[in-house]
Amino acid sequence: MILGIGTDLANIDRIQGTLDRFGDRFRNRVFTAVEQAKSERRHDVAGTYAKRWAAKEACSKALGTGLRMGIAWKDMAVSNLSSGQPVMHVTGWAEARLAQMTPPGHEAIIHVTLTDDHPWAQAFVLIEARPVAPDRG
Ligand SMILES: CC(C)(COP(=O)(O)OP(=O)(O)OC[C@H]1O[C@@H](n2cnc3c(N)ncnc32)[C@H](O)[C@@H]1OP(=O)(O)O)[C@@H](O)C(=O)NCCC(=O)NCCS
Repeated sequence: MILGIGTDLANIDRIQGTLDRFGDRFRNRVFTAVEQAKSERRHDVAGTYAKRWAAKEACSKALGTGLRMGIAWKDMAVSNLSSGQPVMHVTGWAEARLAQMTPPGHEAIIHVTLTDDHPWAQAFVLIEARPVAPDRG
């Protein structure tokens, strides 16, 4: 079953402006080391950050919380499989919220897809609950 869906569109030029203005303060508050490493080695640095920003916003919508002041952004983190496919990993408050919305006997799976076409970066996040196979032990 579907537990939640969220989307966000982020403006790459606005993210570039924030990077220019706040630098590492912005990077370190919002993005994990993995997200920063990926973005900083890209030709399109701001576009790569903007996709991850959109993914966090979309994830917060799928979790049904939205974004509030003081939120721990790094508790929603994007990494990439070797195929390039993005994966969303939640920790802290986001992990607790996910557990709270997952029905008993189910596991939650977060699906994320990203795209960008300057000046826009877009993300969709979908949260699925799958029944856990009964323990036959
Ligand atoms: C996946 C693909 C269609 C992306 O198309 P694109 O027009 O270049 O880029 P888009 O802006 O639409 O999407 C980029 C995002 O697609 C996602 N993506 C990349 N590979 C993906 C895959 N195999 N499956 C699902 N999503 C993928 C990523 O999130 C990427 O953004 P990110 O690298 O910042 O995380 C294209 O890269 C492709 O066909 N790749 C073939 C596989 C390949 O070359 N793999 C290289 C492995 S090293």
